[in-house]
Amino acid sequence: MKAAILNGYDKNGCDLVIRDIPVPEIGNDEVLVKIHTAGVNPLDNMIIRGEVKMIVPYRFPLVMGNEFVGTIDKLGAGVSDFSVGDRVYGRMPLGKIGAFAEYAAIDRRAIAKVPDYLSDEEAACVPLTALTALQALELMTPKAGETIFISGGTGSLGAMAIPVAKSYGLTVITNGSAANRERVLSLGADRFIDYKTEDYAKVLTDVDAVLDTLGERELAKEFAILKHGGKLVSLRGMPNGEFAERSGMSAVKRMLFKVAGGKMDRMAAKKNQSYYFVFVHEDGAGLKKISEIFAKRRIEASVDEVFSLDEVNAALHKVAAGRSKGKTVLRVNS
Ligand SMILES: NC(=O)c1ccc[n+]([C@@H]2O[C@H](COP(=O)([O-])OP(=O)(O)OC[C@H]3O[C@@H](n4cnc5c(N)ncnc54)[C@H](OP(=O)(O)O)[C@@H]3O)[C@@H](O)[C@H]2O)c1
Repeated sequence: MKAAILNGYDKNGCDLVIRDIPVPEIGNDEVLVKIHTAGVNPLDNMIIRGEVKMIVPYRFPLVMGNEFVGTIDKLGAGVSDFSVGDRVYGRMPLGKIGAFAEYAAIDRRAIAKVPDYLSDEEAACVPLTALTALQALELMTPKAGETIFISGGTGSLGAMAIPVAKSYGLTVITNGSAANRERVLSLGADRFIDYKTEDYAKVLTDVDAVLDTLGERELAKEFAILKHGGKLVSLRGMPNGEFAERSGMSAVKRMLFKVAGGKMDRMAAKKNQSYYFVFVHEDGAGLKKISEIFAKRRIEASVDEVFSLDEVNAALHKVAAGRSKGKTVLRVNS
């Protein structure tokens, strides 16, 4: 089968190589999925540059790709909750990615059935970013009626995080570039701030929760608009000791992240706020919940551009360049 392979980290970024490799064998709890589409994420470029190797170290050669949509071709002996032919999707297990390929062997606990109304391209927008939003919101424990600020909500993450936050009954404020205003409002955002002409830190106060997608450069402002005792979940800031502990990391890594994220914890402590970092992990049960929310609310997915597997490097460069209008997707098998 054809697969897009990374042969080693390169801090300046490098191209993946398309190679013919054997179709993977499946384990007892795995299914073999014929991949239809795969979402392309900033995370893929971060893996290539070695930026997340402290969180998930990979061995090479590595079949890349963190999320997929496809049909089940074969079941492992221990799989009884899915059938051959089911159309499924998922965030690939952290320790075994590989969605940029014609087939992948995937643990049954990482997958869920795709809501029928979504096309393969639309469904490829969902797993990684919707699970990120769900995992962040679970840490925030928000109550209906509260307000959340999602920074940079005009990208592929925002396209999922906004409707998922709305499904919790939250008032959603987000910012991004003006060209995306109408699309983002149509996703359910209650207020949109154009970051080039208006500073959210000057117009927002006392929001109940912040979902940060921009990282360290914005954190001081994001803490400033957060209420006393509020929760900030970052997807881009430094992981801290709490994250390392929650993720079950070794004592050494817990200590390293406690030091690395100490600055964020100290910023949060000033107003009795809490700082969390999320690194989205596979979760079939969470994705089933997402599928139910999507099917009930008929949430639309924002596909930006579709590439073929052979064009994977062009897709990765597009994601790296920003100016996102939603998800960049690979069409692998038709
Ligand atoms: N930790 C995790 O598990 C996890 C999971 C998913 C995503 N993430 C992270 O979340 C971030 C967003 O992901 P994505 O897939 O949505 O990326 P994306 O599709 O590239 O979107 C990013 C958006 O942010 C906007 N933006 C850039 N600078 C901004 C600023 N100063 N103020 C407001 N908006 C700004 C961009 O708008 P313009 O380009 O038009 O300016 C773009 O629409 C990435 O850093 C990604 O790595 C982390």
